[in-house]
Amino acid sequence: HLMKVFLTRRIPPEGMKILSAAGGCEVSQWDSDEPVPRTELLRGVQGAHGLLCLLSDKIDTEVLDAAGPNLKVISTLSVGFDHLALDEIKKRGIRVGYTPDVLTDATAELTVALLLATARRLPEGVQEVKNGGWSSWKPLWLCGYGLSASTVGVIGLGRIGMGIARRLMPFGVKRLLYSGRTAKPDAAEVNGEFVPLDTLVSESDFIVVSCSLTAETQGLCDKAFFSKMKNTAVFINSSRGAVVNQEDLYEALTSGQIAAAGLDVTTPEPLPTNHPLLTLKNCVVLPHIGSATYSTRGVMAALSARNLLGGLQGADMPSELKF
Ligand code: GLV
Ligand code: GLV
Repeated sequence: HLMKVFLTRRIPPEGMKILSAAGGCEVSQWDSDEPVPRTELLRGVQGAHGLLCLLSDKIDTEVLDAAGPNLKVISTLSVGFDHLALDEIKKRGIRVGYTPDVLTDATAELTVALLLATARRLPEGVQEVKNGGWSSWKPLWLCGYGLSASTVGVIGLGRIGMGIARRLMPFGVKRLLYSGRTAKPDAAEVNGEFVPLDTLVSESDFIVVSCSLTAETQGLCDKAFFSKMKNTAVFINSSRGAVVNQEDLYEALTSGQIAAAGLDVTTPEPLPTNHPLLTLKNCVVLPHIGSATYSTRGVMAALSARNLLGGLQGADMPSELKF
């Protein structure tokens, strides 16, 4: 009796090799680099014992019902799991695998790159070089903000938040504030000060959002939030787009309430090319590439394949989500 497995996308070969070497699986796949259409997802999961999905696949009651009672394991190729209806998954006794840790370095690195690019206006500068706007060296041209002697506030000092803080400290950051549900023992390493969110927002020169998307963090960065920020402060988000109210962010960026924003995540994804945020020079938007290094994506694929196999076999999963 072969176990039926459905993969919602083409994944790096590191993952496929593990699945084929394991044997015992009848793998079907949406064999494309583009997202599986909803109808194909609902068809593909029918009777599946295992589902390997991405953060762009919404796994809700409808998908779980379409899969039916065989489904034992959902393995997501992501650290985030806000796309999974965990209550429904739990009710059905389905196990979940995800990919924490292996993408921490890549994501923290990208976040630092985005912060520097936004604060020092790199995309604008590149554009000026190309379009002839570079007329001479000018004392007041393309000035931005530096990390030296600054205060950085990290919202959500988890694995990735700590990775970001560790990388930023050597730039000469003076104070590292963080907020979240609980104080973190790890924070001592970066002299992190656990402060109320309001304090973080009003005192930081750079705010980095690195929390997961939950009912508590949905829309956290709204009009009231931006109105408390310094006019010279830079806002960075590499967690999930829905933590931010984008209309309020647009208003804050155009009114001079805040200096600039760098986003690796948006709502929706992809962001339509006619979106108002894309008209702003002081907003740098990336296409959700936090974990996008060749090696990290390979390791993520391997880990998600091992999680899937562990779940199918009723054995240990290397990274099982406890929920
Ligand atoms: C990326 O956003 C992830 O959740 O892995
Ligand atoms: C979760 O996103 C983390 O910080 O690892």
